[in-house]
Amino acid sequence: MSNEWYKELVVYQIWCRSFRDGNGDGAGDLYGVLEKLDYIKSLGVNAIWFSPIYPSPNADWGYDVSDYKDIHPDFGDSDLFKQVVDEAHKRDMKIIMDLVVNHTSSEHYWFKESRKSRDNPYSDYYIWKDGKNGGPPNNWTSLFEGGAWEYVPERDQYYMHAFAKGQPDLNMDNPKVREEVKDIMRFWLDMGVDGFREDVITFISKDPDFPNGFPLPIACGIEHYNKGPNLMKYLKEFREDVIDKYDCFVVAESPMTGAKDALRFTSGDDRVFDMMISFDHMNADCFMTDTIHLPFSLKKFKKALGAWQTKLYGKAWNALYIENHDHPRVISRYGSEEFRDESGKMLATAAFLMSGTPFIYQGQEIGMVNNKLDSLDEFKDVVTFNNERVFRKFGVSKKRYLKIANKTSRENSRTPVQWDSSANAGFTTGTPWFGVNKNYRTINVAADEADPFSVLNYYRKLFRLRQSNKVFIYGKYKEHFRRNKKLYCYEMTRDKDRALIVCSFSDKNLHFKAPKGFSLDEEFIALYNYPDKPSGDSDELFLRPYEAAVFLYK
Ligand code: GLC
Repeated sequence: MSNEWYKELVVYQIWCRSFRDGNGDGAGDLYGVLEKLDYIKSLGVNAIWFSPIYPSPNADWGYDVSDYKDIHPDFGDSDLFKQVVDEAHKRDMKIIMDLVVNHTSSEHYWFKESRKSRDNPYSDYYIWKDGKNGGPPNNWTSLFEGGAWEYVPERDQYYMHAFAKGQPDLNMDNPKVREEVKDIMRFWLDMGVDGFREDVITFISKDPDFPNGFPLPIACGIEHYNKGPNLMKYLKEFREDVIDKYDCFVVAESPMTGAKDALRFTSGDDRVFDMMISFDHMNADCFMTDTIHLPFSLKKFKKALGAWQTKLYGKAWNALYIENHDHPRVISRYGSEEFRDESGKMLATAAFLMSGTPFIYQGQEIGMVNNKLDSLDEFKDVVTFNNERVFRKFGVSKKRYLKIANKTSRENSRTPVQWDSSANAGFTTGTPWFGVNKNYRTINVAADEADPFSVLNYYRKLFRLRQSNKVFIYGKYKEHFRRNKKLYCYEMTRDKDRALIVCSFSDKNLHFKAPKGFSLDEEFIALYNYPDKPSGDSDELFLRPYEAAVFLYK
């Protein structure tokens, strides 16, 4: 079945708890989503990805699922969700679900049974091992919460968790578990959803020898618990038995996968995913993880995007994104809060006019920025707390860590969406579950709606331009001035159509000289991010801070 339509999607990611509260209990929900479908559609979006909305005790805010076939009562129920799907479809919008099957919640029925004894119907659903020398089976540490093994006296064994303690890893080597996964997929596809974002899906196969890992305080052993030997076999099984039988698509989250490696999953006969979420370009201001912060390097950013564009061209498909629920806000990272408006629009221009399927994250479209919390007690994420423990071991004080967390934690992107300037940013009539960013009186949807030059209206223009000129969607990418540390310039070419994208990453004025063969004449300008066009002539431009311009030649 051909599912090529995914190439022309623009996806909006909803992290429901912070999107919009429709029933006044302080948490975002599906009533709020229903209310805002027309708004989402108005952005030029034609698909929604829901971060997990299943029942969950929230050890990892929904990424610990305790029932795969229901909706979290905080968000509504299955009937309400069905209504959201139908209403989205009426508006020609697709819906994709987050499929979190590397692990379940420790509150899931399977785990509650599994932990009881070594011989019950669910005993092999998880990864259980005997201890060694009075301790855990090996030296692995989790990504989210200390060691990767937890002892359970009833079995006198340890279970493995790559993430938090409340997220035991499933044993995908057990064929019954794989049948359960397929059953979950069919359940949602039969209900009418159009695909999945597969959470840390390359973690589902582990090295069967469980050897010790390279000693690291976090994620020790990841070389053994990511991309194990049976990964392809299981992914193919999911693809052939389920995905290929429906008109749907799959976008996979796969940490530590470069462009070349991505090809083995996304191209040729062995293709198991339609596209993958790359992490490379999200490491342009950090080392491996956002928390180990470094100054932003435009060269790193360009190199990563360029590699994925060129290596995948004609063979596989890209997922384009610069924000999601796992990273701080991009303006605060790669742009400038001082030039919030300009850099927000410029970053969108840089990221979304190349080949691939754009994914935007709630609040990105109005240029939301990082949050500043006053105390560590206000944070809510297991990762923030885990990092604090690790930093403490290295002598970092609480006060200093608060600064680090305010800059680098993923909670920066989890504050409620700012709808208007009324109390709680119009997010809820109750008490918000998590603090609203104090800047909501100036940064909010209503203010942006009223301003033709707002970030919001720029996103609309940008997606309109992209959807009406296929050169941006399918074109061939070529970079210019690769070594320039302040300028990102690339061309897109398809048949006779050409486009030139010019983005300044400088907070100062910047002189730009056209690459050979390109005219910068006003008549070719298709998009610009200041209220007036950039100044210059057919050969050169005088770019203002974070200025962006798009030239289209047809
Ligand atoms: C993915 C999710 C992240 C979650 C983790 C564990 O990386 O995007 O939010 O915490 O997987 O499920």
